[in-house]
Amino acid sequence: MKLIHMSDIHLTTPGSTIGGRDPNANFERALTHILRDHSDAELLAITGDLSDWGDRHDYIRLKERLANLPMPTRLCIGNHDDRAAFLEVFPECRDAVGFAQGYVDTSVARCLFLDTWGPQTHAGHYCGARQAWLEDQLAAHEGPFLVFMHHNPIPTHLRPMDQIRLLDDEAFRDIIARHAGKVRHIFFGHCHLPLSGSTAGVPTTSLRGTNHAAFAVFAETKLLSRSNLPEAYGVAFVGRDYLTVHMVEFGYDGPIEIEGSPDYAAWNRETMAR
Ligand SMILES: [Fe+2]
Ligand SMILES: [Fe+2]
Repeated sequence: MKLIHMSDIHLTTPGSTIGGRDPNANFERALTHILRDHSDAELLAITGDLSDWGDRHDYIRLKERLANLPMPTRLCIGNHDDRAAFLEVFPECRDAVGFAQGYVDTSVARCLFLDTWGPQTHAGHYCGARQAWLEDQLAAHEGPFLVFMHHNPIPTHLRPMDQIRLLDDEAFRDIIARHAGKVRHIFFGHCHLPLSGSTAGVPTTSLRGTNHAAFAVFAETKLLSRSNLPEAYGVAFVGRDYLTVHMVEFGYDGPIEIEGSPDYAAWNRETMAR
């Protein structure tokens, strides 16, 4: 099964830029790239920061655009989103008690979509009610599960980033630990950085967003960092006994050389069996 992971699309008023980049144009570029290479994906998951300022008009345009894609899509909200405005446009993402949580079944796994949003803060929250929902979801189905969420469930050790991490991360990891045998992977966003690690033993990855790119500046203790690294989306291949995740840097516009080009003359050493 192939799925697409996008994050931090930060849609905004058409024509506006963020960090010198146009998020609406970059989202379109990403979709064009995805439709060229991955129109057979079983699911497109976007892990939050859908709208830069939680603007209802961004959600309406997003909903119209996603309706024209060949694959099903499912969304998480991030700190830049507005839960009420989002759920007004995407009521199908609302759970029984009003959070933007739910699941989608695919051919290989049940995909859980978590709501780590909190009001008036960029940090992530996972309160008792949401913890109970997750515990119930993981207990009620035999799995396997794939989990999608916005905020990082593990520390990055970049201090400005970790100040706005999932603040209830230890409680969250305790829940994952109780069901780790059923959870195959956790996908998250928020950091605008390619990251890999594990959450209570469950492999966990993130990626650069489709617009502005961060950089891991460990010496900076207060302010988030931005760079000109290429915009990216993710592709995951989920096999019976493996899971492979790519970060595809669709924003890279430099040369891509293939075997046989002049600088690659030494590639095929006579001693190398191919
Ligand atoms: Fe973001
Ligand atoms: Fe975020």
